[in-house]
Amino acid sequence: MTRLFRVLQKLITANGPLTVAQYMRLALQHPTYGYYRQGERLGAEGDFITAPEMSQMFGEMVGLWFADLWRLLGRPPKIAFLELGPGRGKLLEDVLRATAKVEGFHKALSLYLLESNESFRVRLHRQFSAWHPVFPDSLDDLPSCPLFVLANEFFDALPARQFVRTDEGWCERLVTTGPEDTLVWTQSPPNPAFSALIPAPLREAPPSTIAEVSTERSLILRTLAERVARRSGGGLVMDYGATAPTGRDTLHALSQHQLVDFLERPGDVDVSADVDFSLLTEEITRAGLRVLGPKGQGAFLDDLGIGLRAAHLKRNATPEEATAVDGALRFLTSPDETGVRFKAMGFVPASLTDEIAGFA
Ligand SMILES: C[S@@+](CC[C@H](N)C(=O)[O-])C[C@H]1O[C@@H](n2cnc3c(N)ncnc32)[C@H](O)[C@@H]1O
Repeated sequence: MTRLFRVLQKLITANGPLTVAQYMRLALQHPTYGYYRQGERLGAEGDFITAPEMSQMFGEMVGLWFADLWRLLGRPPKIAFLELGPGRGKLLEDVLRATAKVEGFHKALSLYLLESNESFRVRLHRQFSAWHPVFPDSLDDLPSCPLFVLANEFFDALPARQFVRTDEGWCERLVTTGPEDTLVWTQSPPNPAFSALIPAPLREAPPSTIAEVSTERSLILRTLAERVARRSGGGLVMDYGATAPTGRDTLHALSQHQLVDFLERPGDVDVSADVDFSLLTEEITRAGLRVLGPKGQGAFLDDLGIGLRAAHLKRNATPEEATAVDGALRFLTSPDETGVRFKAMGFVPASLTDEIAGFA
């Protein structure tokens, strides 16, 4: 058993079962034993590989998306560029490289990086030292200028609660201790108050339906969307998930590129839940912004011209390099890989009525 298991065991003995959100919060962010508080476990040699880690083309397309948005907004002279969960900084590196020749864009940017992992923060500090990035403790610590927000595979890493519909009503799925140092699933009694938390399309769903709700995701997006509504700017959220509540259990855990049991080895494996983009779009709409998408990552990147970029990269490539470019293009855009399951969603001020690249 992991060291975090002992912490969870004590907590459960003292206070009773944990909600899934409490479990995820501790498994990912316990100050000492949380998955995202220990070392760097991302990339080919880690537990999972993200799109920017797969290919530079991903960040290049994203960078051009932001540069074009900046142009459409009238080239504001100051932009706070906030990346949520930048990890090893590969995405930001490619964004900045791809936009280096966009006149005036870099001069306008100041970098804000919200990252909970200390070793990533040290790495990012070094990597982007010329930019003097700020690592805000809270989203309230942002300057009062237009804001660009970028998040790739950040929202799935935020805790979600899970509810299950029974004949008696909605119950909450909980985590408790089982025999021989194990964690097992249990559930709360039905509670009519849960209905208010269930996404509207699922509220009257049949028994066995699962509803997943993340207030943390909604609150973060609300804060940022409200800021964009007040100060201008825009954002791009990319992640895996669906455009409407699915009614299914989407919790999963990964270790060394393999799916593992969600409750096994807490703190040692990555746990996450699919993003329900409809709950995020609600926040954007409520803030009075224009929602772009969500649409499949593949279609988004195709619209931005990733095919042309791949062809260009292959022009001077060795046969091995060309095969790698083809493989990465397939990984990012094919419906059989991450092209559909992963989605892109943008938000811009409602006053910006132009066609926005990638979301035409
Ligand atoms: C799945 S990784 C994605 C990293 C990077 N965006 C990429 O695409 O390669 C999630 C990142 O979000 C960070 N993270 C997760 N939860 C966070 C939180 N609540 N606050 C700040 N950073 C967080 C993790 O440390 C990690 O760097």
